[in-house]
Amino acid sequence: MEQPIALILAAGKGTRLKSNLCKVLHEVAGRPMLAYVMEALLLAGVGRVCVVVGHQAEAVRSLVSGYDVEFAEQDPQMGTAHAVMAAKSFFDGHGGDVLILCGDTPLIRAQSIAGLVRAHHATQSRLTVVTASLADPTGYGRVIRNPKGSVERIVEEKDAQDAERLCNEINTGVYLVTAELLASLLPRIDANNAQGEYYLTDLVAEAVKDGATVHGHLADNSDEFEGINTRAQLARAASMIWQRNRDELMRGGVTLLDPATVYPDSDVVVGPDTIIYPGVTISGLTRIGSECVIESGVLIRDCHIGDRVEVRLGTRMEKARIGDGSTIGPMAHLRPDSHVGRNARVGNFVETKKTFLGDGSKAAHLTYLGDCRVGTEVNIGCGTITCNYDGKHKYTTVINDHCFIGSDVQLVAPVEIGEGSVIGAGSTITRDVPPRSLAVSRVKQKVYPLRRGQGPLSSEAEGKS
Ligand code: UD1
Ligand code: CA
Repeated sequence: MEQPIALILAAGKGTRLKSNLCKVLHEVAGRPMLAYVMEALLLAGVGRVCVVVGHQAEAVRSLVSGYDVEFAEQDPQMGTAHAVMAAKSFFDGHGGDVLILCGDTPLIRAQSIAGLVRAHHATQSRLTVVTASLADPTGYGRVIRNPKGSVERIVEEKDAQDAERLCNEINTGVYLVTAELLASLLPRIDANNAQGEYYLTDLVAEAVKDGATVHGHLADNSDEFEGINTRAQLARAASMIWQRNRDELMRGGVTLLDPATVYPDSDVVVGPDTIIYPGVTISGLTRIGSECVIESGVLIRDCHIGDRVEVRLGTRMEKARIGDGSTIGPMAHLRPDSHVGRNARVGNFVETKKTFLGDGSKAAHLTYLGDCRVGTEVNIGCGTITCNYDGKHKYTTVINDHCFIGSDVQLVAPVEIGEGSVIGAGSTITRDVPPRSLAVSRVKQKVYPLRRGQGPLSSEAEGKS
């Protein structure tokens, strides 16, 4: 059985989303819609793939440029049949079938594509259209069958009569057609309809006119063919994909204490025996190891987290790497390029950015480390901050292995603290400190007695004492 070649229509703007970003680039659970369609096609094992681009063509091309795909340009965009026409050179002269689908159906799965191909061959059809039976068919083209049950035509909602609108069988926008039939019917399609567009759906009536039987393949799982036109549909698709991702994590041995409240994007990998509390968002390209604990209110984006890491309540981290056995939070903020070694600790109200914190080092409370390189087994006291910015430029702070930085220290960068040195609490460090030294910079404490009537105590209280 020869595999079909595939055409993805992705040139439309997506007016109904009311967005500056074109429709197929909108993300659903961490991936642009079009990427899901691409993946499903690859898994289904189709032959060549062509994407019809138009709106924001460059961005769409670059999204799928990693795949072995061809492109066709459609400009201006005058409807779905016009889009297929724009890709004529892709299927012209091809001996087999063309699978046509839309870039706005991110829920589609490889199994369903394979099922369609099997049905198309089993029925020996020249044109198969995938249909679905929906309780609420609003917005879709309706599939009109004749009294014998064969598909006769598809009518778009805007062109439909009231009686036709009551029909629950809809066109999913996925078709399998011989390249030959497609090429011969396309030129007959006109734009005589409510939207003044060239409708691909007219292919069906044209095929019937030609005496071809059109097979309507009713999808087993209509959810998979939902076309995303509105923000509400976008949200629904995202929740379905998050649910698929949760199920996959749980099958892989991850505990989700309250699954419905965890949002794992599609490129997230989590190791077994990790426990995820309620209310956690894990997005982008994130990998979390095994035996970790991720507490509530945590947001993790594009991070690489080792094994046995604890991420405590209310932490946010982005583009960070955390080594095995470390503890982060509660309420920590790891900004991009934070790299925490093994068995290290970033505690509550600690913010890091472009910072390397070595193995076994600790910044346990109320600290800012920006543009900072911290060696191993360093202790950074409560309230310490790097002063990395002079209003124009950023500078680096280096703290070498085994240093002890007292509480409430300001490290005015660029500055380097030598190995094994100690910085006294409350110091403002503006110059490098050599190894094995104690640096203290603070005014000596002075004590003056208060006279009667000075200070906060009332004179009555003073009288008693
Ligand atoms: C289309 C079908 C409708 C079906 C529905 C399924 C037509 C006329 N209607 O309607 O019967 O029920 O899909 O979801 O085909 N596109 C282009 N170039 C264009 C226009 C659209 O590439 O000139 C692309 C879009 O980027 C999108 C896809 O084609 O990925 C479908 O277009 P859309 O406008 O969403 O069609 P629907 O109104 O949903
Ligand atoms: Ca659509």
